[in-house]
Amino acid sequence: HQSSADKVLPHEATVSAPVNIAVIKYWGKRDAGLILPTNSSLSVTLSQDHLCTRTTVCAAAEFGGDRLWLNGVEEDVTASARLCNVISTARKLRAAVEQADSAAPRLSTWGLHVCSENNFPTAAGLASSASGYAALVSALGTLFKLPQSAAELSRVARVGSGSACRSILGGFVAWQAGVEGDGSDSLAEQVAARAHWPQLQALVLVVSDRKKTVSSTAGMQTTVATSPLFAERVRNVVPRRMAVMRAAIAARDFAAFATLTMQDSNQFHAVCQDTFPPIAYMNDTSHAITNLVHAFNTAVGRVAAAYTYDAGPNAVIFALHDDMRTLVQLLTRCFPRPDSMPAAAFYEDPFAVFASPDLVGRDIDDPAVAALAKSIGTFTAGSVRRIIHTEVGDGPRVLPLSESLLNHAGMPK
Ligand code: DP6
Repeated sequence: HQSSADKVLPHEATVSAPVNIAVIKYWGKRDAGLILPTNSSLSVTLSQDHLCTRTTVCAAAEFGGDRLWLNGVEEDVTASARLCNVISTARKLRAAVEQADSAAPRLSTWGLHVCSENNFPTAAGLASSASGYAALVSALGTLFKLPQSAAELSRVARVGSGSACRSILGGFVAWQAGVEGDGSDSLAEQVAARAHWPQLQALVLVVSDRKKTVSSTAGMQTTVATSPLFAERVRNVVPRRMAVMRAAIAARDFAAFATLTMQDSNQFHAVCQDTFPPIAYMNDTSHAITNLVHAFNTAVGRVAAAYTYDAGPNAVIFALHDDMRTLVQLLTRCFPRPDSMPAAAFYEDPFAVFASPDLVGRDIDDPAVAALAKSIGTFTAGSVRRIIHTEVGDGPRVLPLSESLLNHAGMPK
């Protein structure tokens, strides 16, 4: 029986999902349709307080079909095979729920409206497919009341975008490459919860860039087809590194974690260079940041910071909370904010590392780092457009109805 409550209560769910940054990189597919990777990877989930995608999904028998709005713009749902795959996989899982419970409303047969927004500007060049597909899958999981575990749902997110499967979980997450042809064992698992290492924090350096980069999807296929270095990476390097990285995280050994994070980022970009034709994601500012991090570690006499770059010029720098003050002082001194930008917008200081935004980068506490800043000098103002200070975060969050992005008619608010 369809109760009257079913008609009154909207069948909708709103969730937010995090961004993740890989410290052992996923690059290469053995199956492009199912998005099965050539190697396992490992990432850190970043806090949704600073970077996230929010998504509302609503099902109604009255909807003519599926519709999608991304950051305020309606998109053609049928144009993306990956999106269609994700929605139809979730509907199949829902159909099983309905089969088992004759009272369950037949949501699997109704139209869906999906509305999704990033809390960071897409123009910042931050990858949003991971948080986007993770949000969509968790929203559908909530709406459809799917019994599947997060690890099982990560398989559905994976079909949208490989790296999205890791955003289904918080903390430190491994994506097991798996060996099965159907992808049943290619899923994400939590290596350690966020609370395991509360000292670990990250800075996202948004780097200005003019050129359009090769998409990860296209780039990695060319790499698989042409790079001999890549074959070596998959066969010998990554399996060893996965084990070492897990051990470093388990031991909260920052120096080991940081060293391997930098090495694996470097190898990923080396493999891109070894691709034919070569792919360059990092730019001059990225390379300057790399050099600065190494010089910083030398100045403080230990491995206190680590950089990593994905398929673009932005840097993510890991450091422990106690080292962030000196590091931000150095970065803001060497990479002055764009002229038009107020200090408090360039670096928001959510953890109150400084007493006031005017103090950021004025004086550098550590004399060795102050001397380093002097020797590096300053880069063109605005080469780094923004510094987002964040920390390790939790997995997707189910939000209350008041946070919905859709109105009563199921249209964007
Ligand atoms: C460089 O997940 O964007 O960020 O599976 O084709 O959607 P598709 O690719 P995507 O690739 C991300 C690659 C990377 C490294 C990583 O996140 O592990």
